[in-house]
Amino acid sequence: MRGIILSGGSGTRLAPLTKITSKQLLPVYHRPMIYYPLNTLIKAGIKEILIIIAPERAGDYLNLLGSGREFGCKFTYEIQDKPRGLADAYRIGENFIDQENVCMILGDNIFADDLSAEIKNFTSGGKVFAKKVPDPERFGVVKFDERMKAVKIVEKPKEWLSDYALTGLYIFDNRVVDVVKNTQPSARGEMEITDIQNWYLERGELEVAMVAGEWIDAGTFDSLLRAQNLAREKLADKLII
Ligand code: DAU
Repeated sequence: MRGIILSGGSGTRLAPLTKITSKQLLPVYHRPMIYYPLNTLIKAGIKEILIIIAPERAGDYLNLLGSGREFGCKFTYEIQDKPRGLADAYRIGENFIDQENVCMILGDNIFADDLSAEIKNFTSGGKVFAKKVPDPERFGVVKFDERMKAVKIVEKPKEWLSDYALTGLYIFDNRVVDVVKNTQPSARGEMEITDIQNWYLERGELEVAMVAGEWIDAGTFDSLLRAQNLAREKLADKLII
């Protein structure tokens, strides 16, 4: 399985911190933010990792992460010139993904759990990870029926749909490369990850796993602070890089 870390975007919600570097390189306690999603992939045995970055920050990433040899990995970089949406990663990553399955994680998502087993036991279709949250309107959400079978996925619904957010970790089989080619940008002009998830869901091929431990999207000042505290209290001794 190949890995992708989506680490572009402009990070405007964290300005002025993001005026000088990328959001995903800001400190989360004693490590740059991107080290946390990197740990998630590397622990799961994924060594070939594509890091998608914004052009103006490319130098910072190369200085920090280099070829990946230091971490026992091979890093590949691609530029995303504009934030065209999460699913755009599968277009940018087409050559890198080649014939493999792909596990993508967002560069600002921090998971307290070791998800290695969940990642390693993927076989086909799609697998995504949900977590009950108090503020579902901030996320892609998944609605379950009374038997906890996923029935619908909506990006930031205006009307309440469910308390379960979909976290920024997505595993898809190789078909995702073609699925994204047949997907149109949404009204907000983005290639939506929810469209990809719904493609697999409609075919009965999407598994939705629950995240038991803490999960933080560290993209706001408050969630960044929570991430720092989580890292200090619970994550520091679990990191392998
Ligand atoms: O954190 C989980 C959530 O991430 C999901 O529940 C949502 O379904 C998903 O759309 C996403 O929501 P966000 O509001 O967090 O998306 P945002 O635009 O902030 O982008 C998430 C990260 O991906 C961010 O660190 C920047 C990066 N990014 C984003 C876009 C749109 C890119 O590198 N390129 C892009 O084109």
